[in-house]
Amino acid sequence: MTTVQRDPNRVIIFDTTLRDGEQSPGATMNLQEKLEIARQLARLGVDVIEAGFPISSPGDFEAVAAIAEEIDGPVICGLARAIEKDIVRCGEAVTRNKRGRIHTFIATSQIHIEKKLRMTKEQVIETAVNAVKLAKTFTPDVEFSCEDAGRTDWDYMVDVISAVIEAGATTINVPDTVGYCNPWEFGECIAYLLKKVKGADKVIFSAHCHNDLGLAVANSLAALRAGARQVECTINGIGERAGNASLEEIVMNLKVRQDFYGLTTGINTKEIYRTSRLVSEITGIRVQRNKAIVGANAFAHEAGIHQDGVLKERSTYEIMRAEDVGWTGESMVLGKHSGRHAFKTRLAQLGYDSLSEEEINKAFARFKELCDKKKEVLDEDLYAIVEDEVFHAPEIYQLDYLGFTSGTSTVPTATVRLRKGEQVMQEAACGDGPVDAAFRAVEKLVNVNTELIDYAVEAVTGGTDAQGQVSVTVRVNGKKVRARGSHTDVVTASVKAYLHAINKALQLKEVASNNDVPKTGM
Ligand code: KIV
Ligand code: ZN
Repeated sequence: MTTVQRDPNRVIIFDTTLRDGEQSPGATMNLQEKLEIARQLARLGVDVIEAGFPISSPGDFEAVAAIAEEIDGPVICGLARAIEKDIVRCGEAVTRNKRGRIHTFIATSQIHIEKKLRMTKEQVIETAVNAVKLAKTFTPDVEFSCEDAGRTDWDYMVDVISAVIEAGATTINVPDTVGYCNPWEFGECIAYLLKKVKGADKVIFSAHCHNDLGLAVANSLAALRAGARQVECTINGIGERAGNASLEEIVMNLKVRQDFYGLTTGINTKEIYRTSRLVSEITGIRVQRNKAIVGANAFAHEAGIHQDGVLKERSTYEIMRAEDVGWTGESMVLGKHSGRHAFKTRLAQLGYDSLSEEEINKAFARFKELCDKKKEVLDEDLYAIVEDEVFHAPEIYQLDYLGFTSGTSTVPTATVRLRKGEQVMQEAACGDGPVDAAFRAVEKLVNVNTELIDYAVEAVTGGTDAQGQVSVTVRVNGKKVRARGSHTDVVTASVKAYLHAINKALQLKEVASNNDVPKTGM
């Protein structure tokens, strides 16, 4: 039998956009959206996709199972607490892929053990060992995490990790769950574990850092310098609270400073920008303009002295090229005369290459409608169209008609007609402005409690004929959801966004029957 030697300088990129990323407030995704992201992550070249937390809801289970069934290439991982029912459910989902991984965890910091788990330290070790042994009956690929490792006593962690390695864990993850550490101590901690843990040389050590103090990427890089060979990260750094370490920042650090780190990844960096856009469109979480690597300003030179330098010699002020991350800066222009074939081809180039014919037809009809209002349809418009027409929850409530009046001396009034299956219903309302009036009319029609938490509008492209894209965060029956809608008319875009949010929340309610299971934590 021949054994394949692992390249010691190759970093495993473990993407958790679909699990920890989805824990960003309101970022809940449906099955189709998760599949679309998983396909793009595979194209990007990630090594592991953490597809969800199967016990947390039937929807999460379905998503992990569907991704495990379809995606060929990366390891497909599911999360499970160190609890029998979690591991069994996770095993059922991930074993649909020949490279399925179970990621099980238990908290190891004193505060979590005492206040949350109410266990003894010995009981925690026993629970962890049993969890790993059970997980091993489903798959040889088992990852174990010491939750809140960043605040855990190092010697106790040595005991826990040595025990789970003996039980069969193949990857050991060290999460800074609350984003408390700094790069010096986190790197030192990894080095200490690598030195003291029994069997450390037989497993891969991994870092999973949160960004509460803005150090998630720095801590991840420090862990790699200290000998970790897996990093857990998300696209655009989305995730619980201030988010997780951003995948694109870690990868580009390793690439641009190869001279310093001497490490490589399997990421095709030219797919980074496309992946970032897709995740932003689907989750509704905008990327800040000055965000490293993927922000709109990341490659823009404003100061005259910089522009002059770049024109003379790019490397005077540029350490990487926009093309390296797949950002051309140019948008392809489509218009009235562009046919379905050109439209479909451009969508595929933007990453939407798995849409069904019916979805393409829907998006194409909307594109044609837009061409009547706008001379040039840019890539940004296409992203907005696909999101609005394809990536949203099934339309339980569908907008049939919207009319409104407004002006400097008119009381803003809106009339909204919705369809729900065969049922057609109509209401009118007044408000502070046409959007407020339209939302009030919608609220009268839908049979749910809604509370608008956040509302933002931006132009998709330049010009007064631009589509407006409205992002809303709405609490629907106590559940926070985020959605977007676009249209050349901002009031229509707003009502669409509002309805997408309501439909999304209702769909989540339909698939969830296990809401009492927390997202993480025991
Ligand atoms: O932050 C964390 O501790 C986690 C674990 C479940 C790995 O997300
Ligand atoms: Zn986390």
